[in-house]
Amino acid sequence: MPPSLDPPRLFSRGRPSERWGSSLGFVLAAAGSAVGLGNLWGFAYRASQGGGSAFVLLYLLIVVVVCLPVLVAEMVLGRSTGHAPLIAPVTAGGRRWRPLGWMFLASAVGILSYYSVLMGWTGRSLLHALTGPLPADIGGAEAYFIGISTGGDAVLGHLLSLGLTGLVVAAGVRAGIERLTKVAMPLLFVMLLALLLWAAFLPGAVEGYSTFLLRWDPAKLSDPATIRNAFTQAFFSIGTGIGAILAYATYLNRTSPISGEAVAVVGMDTAVGLMAGCVTFPVVASFGLGDVVSGSTVGALFIALPTGLASLGPAGRVVAVVFFLLAYLAAITSAVSLLEVPASSLMDRLGWSRRRAVWLSVAAIAVLGLPSALDVGVLERMDAVFGGVFLIAGGLALALLLGWRAPARYRADLEGSGSPPALVAALLFALRWVSPPAIAVGLVVSIADLARSWAG
Ligand code: TRP
Repeated sequence: MPPSLDPPRLFSRGRPSERWGSSLGFVLAAAGSAVGLGNLWGFAYRASQGGGSAFVLLYLLIVVVVCLPVLVAEMVLGRSTGHAPLIAPVTAGGRRWRPLGWMFLASAVGILSYYSVLMGWTGRSLLHALTGPLPADIGGAEAYFIGISTGGDAVLGHLLSLGLTGLVVAAGVRAGIERLTKVAMPLLFVMLLALLLWAAFLPGAVEGYSTFLLRWDPAKLSDPATIRNAFTQAFFSIGTGIGAILAYATYLNRTSPISGEAVAVVGMDTAVGLMAGCVTFPVVASFGLGDVVSGSTVGALFIALPTGLASLGPAGRVVAVVFFLLAYLAAITSAVSLLEVPASSLMDRLGWSRRRAVWLSVAAIAVLGLPSALDVGVLERMDAVFGGVFLIAGGLALALLLGWRAPARYRADLEGSGSPPALVAALLFALRWVSPPAIAVGLVVSIADLARSWAG
């Protein structure tokens, strides 16, 4: 390889603490990044907006034929360049790709600034379920939610959650991120499985499942709202398009089988999304709270879930504790991947120490998140811009970079690490011919919808 493709590594290379301890460690960390509040809240919220099984079908289709090849492209870009998200696009595509590095950085910082606010709400709900009775009715729950989602409580939750995320990332790839995800992910699966079993015996279980899985209306397949929801959910939930998995992949060794690992990550993420739906929907249906979820905003489940569980007495409280604990674990393993984007970029670009890079990023994100902590309307707009438009645009750019500008890199990296040539050919075909046009449609629909909602 010519030296321009493989410049001296300013960061991470050759330092064992900055490598994953094992392939499983990487897969769990990447799954930790994917599985987050997007699966637990986003999926239920978007599925309940009326798409029914058409939404679920579109979402699954986008995940497999659009997001999977892009996820592999993001991993290849990280591993093959050995550079952080800010620099990797230039290394692979030349100077004209520099703006993509900056876009990765802006998106990751933007998303984390409000994601940590949502984490704060989750943590506050967990503390509440641990220490006091759940709100007795919808009115009480709404008042309670307004209390935790605005003002001092929200700011404190945001800052504490960001600080906790900073502690993990500052401890390093192996001693921080890998150590956390190796414990958190198995725990999360066990808790989710327990909740799944519990929910199956609720009186509204069948009705709950059927509201989002079994209601089939083919017209919904071409409904713009359903299409937008499916795209946003797929990209946000997998977490591809802004360099988070790219940063993780720089710490991989050359022999790690990336395509198989990507399939494992996508499979776990999708399973958790569907399983979470099979927990939240029965609760909501059992207690007749469907309108609260679909009619409302990002806060809906924070209101509906505690209310539904309150009527079950002490057992309901135990379930609430387990659910919010699970959600907090899912959230922090996602937040660390978002923080790794600016942190690794500062280390790579400026040669900073990990600690310095992490805490400077945390400070900037803390300030940037204050408006979202103080106003839910700002939070929703940040999500629409960074978690919607920027994310999907980043996915499109990744498909163009690895599919058209540097396809040889994609092929060489995958075949060099043992992926069967037929699989590589199929992935490359999807990356060139399926992902770009499909994402372009998704992007246009999202922007049009955003413009419409902001104009109205
Ligand atoms: N996927 C996570 C969730 O579902 C959030 C997340 C982590 C993310 N890394 C990302 C979203 C990168 C977009 C891009 O909650």
